[in-house]
Amino acid sequence: MLMSGVSLQFPITPNTDSHLSAINWDNLPFGKIFSDHMFVMEYADGAWQQGEILPFGPIAMHPAMSAIHYGQSIFEGMKAYRNDHNEVVLFRPELNARRFSESAARMCMPEIPEELFLAAVKQLVAQDAGWVTNKPGYALYIRPFMFATDEFVGIKPSDTYKFVIITSPVGAYYAEPVRVKIEEHYTRAAVGGVGRAKAAGNYGASLYPAKQAQQEGFHQLVWTDAKTHTFIEESGTMNIMFVINNTLITPSEDADTILRGTTKRTVLEVAASLGIPIEERPVTVAEIIEAAKNGTLQDVFGAGTAATIAPIAIIGYRDEKLTLPALETREISLKIKDFLDNIKSGAQPDTQHWIQKVC
Ligand code: COI
Repeated sequence: MLMSGVSLQFPITPNTDSHLSAINWDNLPFGKIFSDHMFVMEYADGAWQQGEILPFGPIAMHPAMSAIHYGQSIFEGMKAYRNDHNEVVLFRPELNARRFSESAARMCMPEIPEELFLAAVKQLVAQDAGWVTNKPGYALYIRPFMFATDEFVGIKPSDTYKFVIITSPVGAYYAEPVRVKIEEHYTRAAVGGVGRAKAAGNYGASLYPAKQAQQEGFHQLVWTDAKTHTFIEESGTMNIMFVINNTLITPSEDADTILRGTTKRTVLEVAASLGIPIEERPVTVAEIIEAAKNGTLQDVFGAGTAATIAPIAIIGYRDEKLTLPALETREISLKIKDFLDNIKSGAQPDTQHWIQKVC
């Protein structure tokens, strides 16, 4: 029970029409299939009300609901895994809870106490534990999100909100090594903007520039700073990391334009523990292009919850397409990926205490 009187044991209305047995685990498109239940909690009268677990289904909305007019809407991405000991586990979920609160604060939305956020995620995942497979490369993707629900056409922070969690069994987000293009005109985030928040609008604004790149055969963009377009920030749905002369390099998060990635943070911590030199600092487009051309760029990969560690095969820059080293030569990212996979599967002891058991 929280101080506000909200119980952390959420009432459950079971789904009596489960479609789990109909899932084709060999053909699982990312984010299109949803498990049987969802968590729903309302914010009203200045407090979070009692949350509950309901059968997965549509949410009714008023046409004047403020989130759809003014974009007060944030989300998180997390994953649950089934390990070799048949336990369902979460990976560093407290980092997602914290980032969710930071996003909420930036968007003038109510924060959710970490204890409440984690209890909701864990109880929902436990309820749908049957949806968590131990198939390598697969997980139950968890999507917590919050949106403004005031029925009012006028700009002000909403007084009411809905917090919902849905889950979706998934395989790889990118089916193949990613082709990215360095963007020098459009901007994802400017200093002082909302780039650090996981705000829905950041993704909406990225669609048009990304579509242009997709028409040229790329999957995603590499965003550069809004002012000069000479510093690398992040790539589409993930943070971006480079290996030059055996050093792992990634843009620092000092500016409020870059999402603070859980996977990226973990990659840096693993690299440090493996004795790999790391540099978290401003990264210029020029140095990456030069390193790609002179052969010192050994690896480029994206790091994200959905994407996990996604090797980048090609970087487009102006009229050039720079092909990066063969995947099997990318020792550092392969080593880090193995390390993380082994912790998640339970093959390696979780000495860092990153794993939280659900059931
Ligand atoms: C995630 O990595 O979980 C994300 O939120 C990216 C998403 C747009 C699929």
